[in-house]
Parts: sequence; structure tokens; C-alpha cells
Amino acid sequence: METNIPFIHLKSQYASIREEVEAGIHKVLERQSFILGDEVKEMEELIARLHNCAHGVGCASGSDALLLSLLALGIGPGDKVIVPSFTFFATAGSVVRAGATPVFVDIDPRTMNISPSTVEQALADHDQKDIIKAIIPVHLYGQCADMDRLLSLAKQHSLPVVEDAAQSILARYGGRPAGSMGNCGCLSFFPTKNLGGAGDGGMILTNDSKLAELLHLLRDHGARERNFHILAGINSRLDTLQAAVLLTKAKHLPGWTEQRQQKAAFYQKLFLGAGICDPDAVYPTAKFPVVLPYTQPGNYHVFNQYTLRVARRKEMADYLASHGIGTAIYYPLPLHRQPVFSCLNYANDACPESERAASEVLSIPIYPELSDEQQAQVTGCINKFYSSR
Ligand SMILES: Cc1ncc(COP(=O)(O)O)c(C=O)c1O
Repeated sequence: METNIPFIHLKSQYASIREEVEAGIHKVLERQSFILGDEVKEMEELIARLHNCAHGVGCASGSDALLLSLLALGIGPGDKVIVPSFTFFATAGSVVRAGATPVFVDIDPRTMNISPSTVEQALADHDQKDIIKAIIPVHLYGQCADMDRLLSLAKQHSLPVVEDAAQSILARYGGRPAGSMGNCGCLSFFPTKNLGGAGDGGMILTNDSKLAELLHLLRDHGARERNFHILAGINSRLDTLQAAVLLTKAKHLPGWTEQRQQKAAFYQKLFLGAGICDPDAVYPTAKFPVVLPYTQPGNYHVFNQYTLRVARRKEMADYLASHGIGTAIYYPLPLHRQPVFSCLNYANDACPESERAASEVLSIPIYPELSDEQQAQVTGCINKFYSSR
């Protein structure tokens, strides 16, 4: 039998909720209230409640959530913002869009989240310590960064923290929800996220009422009253149609998240049973060519991605592709080495762990609809590749 296990399969999720989603869309169409309609407010309240935050401010994307957060915190030209080098471009792109400059730091090789000790080093650098104005930890793949250490560094240096929780809706760190620990947290509703819309969408979470008020203004042209502008805001609202889709999907999110965790636990069982990974290894080796995702104790990991570190990545990914199994690389080039940031003159080896992760990571399919049989096919194929060559 031909294997066909796509990396992402949004159609299977849609098939299971088609009627609810279409009813939600239909309601908005009937009302013809597309901008900041009731569903947006409902969605903001729901997600804020789920994340134990006082405010949720919907916006057009996760990237805009980051930009709006920086603008609301007063970050702009002449300022620098610490970001991990190993993340999606938008984490640093938002800093540049705010007029500031990113300071790239390295990651912890086990969690692949920002390394607090490299943040500490950046903050100790005399040339830049006075112009660093914020820290953006990214909760990569669905797992929160080491927030206790980061929050203590931020406090020591009186810096605001913007959590990039784009991949981590419902994740928790020692019981605290992602996005609720810093000054604000940014979510993305990009279609492949754990809660994905039918297009772009995002939200900022915060417990700070003043910041929430600024964010409301900034996302809507800086106008408190129509045509009277007190700030140079932008047009970045969460569409009512998107909010309607997201609201119907949000009901299923806790269950889908648990299913993702069950899939992750099953992968772990299958891989360990195959004997190709050492559970304590950090990097792949010839003997143990696969390293499984590491969950830091106390973290509730929501597995937006199930990301391995593997030996001979290209050959292995090609082998899986030739057997009908989709994979993806998040991310192949660290940000300090991206052409757009060459003007910042980082040495290629400035963030060695990011560099190494970029050459080894491989994400394999994980979604609630993935069957046990499909998971066994994925691990079986990986095992076969390494045992046959
Ligand atoms: C870590 C991270 N930050 C920011 C973003 C940007 O979110 P969006 O695609 O909704 O703009 C994403 C999503 O792709 C992401 O994964």
C-alpha cells in the first residue's frame, strides 16, 4: 500500500467541524458587520480567559501582535531588542518594523529556546547595554522558554518582556500560561498553528490595562473616536470572519492539544523502542542518529511541532519524501545569518547552537487526526533508513 502522510493536513480537521465553521461564517455574512464585530470581542475574552490574562487584543497577524507590542512599549529608532537567532523571521522582523535593531542571542540546545546565559552576556556588553530596551523570548515549537531566569534578568535591568507565543497557545510554564508572564504575549492564528484561522490573525495578551488601551488604539489608526487620531497607529484588526472561524475552533482546542500530546508520547515510545535514540543525548550521533524533543520539567508542551534533531538530515528527509511522508525544517538559516541582517555584521559563528540546530532539525507530522498506524509508518520509515545504511 502507498503511504501518504502529509506534513500538515488541514482538510481532515475541517471535515470534522465543517458545519460549525460554516454556520459561524454565515452569521457574520448575514449581519454584514465585518470590522470589529461581536465575534472579535468574544474571541478576545475567551482567549484572555484561557491564558489567565486580563486583556486580549485581536490584530491582523502574529507578526503585527509583535509589532504593536513593541510600539505600545515605546520601542523605536535607536533602541535594541534581544531576540533568539533561532526562530521564525517575524520575531526579529517586528523589531526592525518598529524602527529598532535586533540583538541576536543563542539558544539552549535541548529545548531550542532562547538561552538565558546568552541574554545575560548581551546585557553585560557595555557597548549596547544602555540601548537594549526589551527582550523577546520565543516559546518555540509549543514549549515555553526558561521564563524564571529571563524574567529575573529583565527585572534586574528594568526591561519589558514581550513573549512570542505564536506557536504556543495553551502552553504553560510551571502552571503559568504562555503570554501571561511578560508585559505582553503574542499569539498567531496562522492556519497551521494549533488554533488556526482561515487566513491570518493574531492577538496580544496582557494584564496591564494601560498597555491594553494603547494596543486598542494602535491597532485601529490611533483613533479613540472616528477621524480623531491621538497616535500614529496602523490598520491591524482581527477580521470578524476570522474571529467567527476561530471561535468555533477554540471549543475544540483543549481536546486537540491533548491529542497532540498523546501523539508526541506515542512517537517517543515508538522511537525509543526502535533503539535509534539515546533519551539523554543532545545531539545526534552515528550510533544514535535521532534526538527526540526535550520537554523541560514543569512545562506543558503543546507540540505545534514535533521536531527531531537528526544525522544526515537531507538524505533522511528525501527518503521519507520518497515514501510519501512529509517533513519540514523550522528553521534552516539562523536569523543572524540572514541576508537582510548582514548589515549587522554578526560573525557566522556568533550563535553556534542556533547554527547547529539549523543544520539538524527536522519536524515530522503531528496533528490530532494523525493515526497510530501513520505514526508507526513514520517511525518505521526513519528506523529503516538508519538501519539500512
Ligand atoms: C515564532 C513565530 N513568531 C511569529 C510568527 C508570526 O505570526 P504570523 O504568521 O501570524 O504573522 C510566527 C508564525 O508564523 C512564529 O512561528
